[in-house]
Amino acid sequence: MVVIGLVGSPRKNMRTNSLVDAALEGSKSRGVEIEKIYLVDYKIRPFTGQGGSDEAFQYCPEDLSKLCEEADAIILGAPVYWGDINGLTKNFMDTVRLRLPNINGKPALGIAIAGGSGKGLFSGIQSIYHFFFHKQMRGIEPTPVSRFNLDSSFKDLRMSGAKLADLSKEKSPFSGETVDERWPEVLAYYAALKYLNCDPVDEFMTLAGDLIKISKGDKVEKAKTELETATSLIAKGQRAEASKHAVRSYQILYFAG
Ligand SMILES: Cc1cc2nc3c(=O)[nH]c(=O)nc-3n(C[C@H](O)[C@H](O)[C@H](O)COP(=O)(O)O)c2cc1C
Repeated sequence: MVVIGLVGSPRKNMRTNSLVDAALEGSKSRGVEIEKIYLVDYKIRPFTGQGGSDEAFQYCPEDLSKLCEEADAIILGAPVYWGDINGLTKNFMDTVRLRLPNINGKPALGIAIAGGSGKGLFSGIQSIYHFFFHKQMRGIEPTPVSRFNLDSSFKDLRMSGAKLADLSKEKSPFSGETVDERWPEVLAYYAALKYLNCDPVDEFMTLAGDLIKISKGDKVEKAKTELETATSLIAKGQRAEASKHAVRSYQILYFAG
């Protein structure tokens, strides 16, 4: 069994790399082989052709596609740029030759690090999981990461990596003979996954909550009060009003990195 970890950041020794390492360590602890790949080492070209997805495969180097096709499970880590994954990771997802019928139920773990303001920690992960979903892979619970939950994320990712390795030994494809027959099960599976239906209001709420957890001092109580107000307004269906308090709570404790 081989689990591959793909690092989507061009910065080889930074946060994405460390987070992918943590997941790979978890996989290794379950006795599988691991391999790390830096996407920046490959000449992945943005798709500029006139054809469809089959033509796009030509824009990803053959050896990279082969590694991904043959891997028993995939970890894909990307940095968040302007609320989404970076272009290098997107070009990889657009062009890697992972044909739907062959990868049904392939276990996958996505990691996105919003290492600046933290904004985009959910939308980044959503991009990766849209890819897994459309390819009918079996994405396991994602790990959205910001600077404010970075420390605890390493532990979570070790556990996710271990889970991924276990799944790679069991193989559980979605049922159905054809791609179309599998959609109901695929959709139901993804509908139950955490974070995929979260929006920017949820992002601010989560970031404020994480800042409260790691902050000290007299501003914490004020931030807590704002977050509690946001939570109760959301419970009453007043999401737009709640968002103002969520932002305030976050801004009270935000620190530049
Ligand atoms: C062009 C660009 C846009 C960025 N946009 C965001 C953003 O929207 N939200 C955020 O939290 N961080 C943002 N960042 C910061 C990166 O997410 C952060 O540096 C992260 O650690 C990058 O991953 P790496 O350390 O693995 O390279 C941005 C960085 C760059 C270069």
